[in-house]
Amino acid sequence: MSKLDQRIQLVASNEFSQLVDEWRRTQSDLPSRSEAIRRLVDMGLKYEQEHPMHLVTAVIRPHKYEEVREELLKLGVQGITVTQVQGFGRQRGQTEIYRGAEYQTNEVPKIRLEIAVTSEILQRVIDTIQATAKTGKIGDGKIFVHALERAVRIRTNEDNASALD
Ligand SMILES: Nc1ncnc2c1ncn2[C@@H]1O[C@H](COP(=O)(O)OP(=O)(O)OP(=O)(O)O)[C@@H](O)[C@H]1O
Ligand SMILES: [Mg+2]
Repeated sequence: MSKLDQRIQLVASNEFSQLVDEWRRTQSDLPSRSEAIRRLVDMGLKYEQEHPMHLVTAVIRPHKYEEVREELLKLGVQGITVTQVQGFGRQRGQTEIYRGAEYQTNEVPKIRLEIAVTSEILQRVIDTIQATAKTGKIGDGKIFVHALERAVRIRTNEDNASALD
C-alpha cells in the first residue's frame, strides 16, 4: 500500500459518520474510520471504472415529458428513446383514475424514457429527472438504473463512450 502521508480534513454530517461506522463494523478487521473511508472511496472509484456506462429507464407523467427533455438536453444528453406506455404502481392506478370498482387494477398512461449515459453525467441525469418530473402526488413514476455493457453506433461502428457522444 502507498505511504499514508497526506492529511485530508473532512467535514461530514452525523448521519455520514454513522453510516461509515455501521459499515466498518461489518468488516472482520474493524478498520479505523479513516481506513473505512479510504476503502469505500476505492470501491466507488473501482465501480465507476468497471461501469462506465448506464442505461437510465424512467417512467414519468406524460405532461412532464417536454420539460424533462429540455432539462436533459441542457446536461448534454445526446439521445432519448421515448415510448408511450401503460402501467401501475403500488396503488394499482386506483386513486389516480377512479372508475368505481373497488379492487380493480387500472393501468395509467405514462411515458417511458430510455437514456444511455456515461458515468460523468449519470447522477445529474437521475437528479434532473427526479426534480423535474416530481409533483409530489402518487403516480409521479420511477427511475431504474441498469449497468450498460455495450453501445454501438450502427453507421460508424463506434462503440461504448464514443457511441454515446
Ligand atoms: N416495480 C415496478 N416495476 C416496473 N414498473 C413500475 C414499478 N413501479 C412503478 N412502475 C411504473 O411506474 C409508473 C408509476 O408508478 P408510481 O409512481 O405509481 O409508483 P409507486 O411505487 O406506486 O409510487 P407512488 O406511491 O409515488 O405512486 C407505473 O405506472 C409503472 O409503469
Ligand atoms: Mg403509485
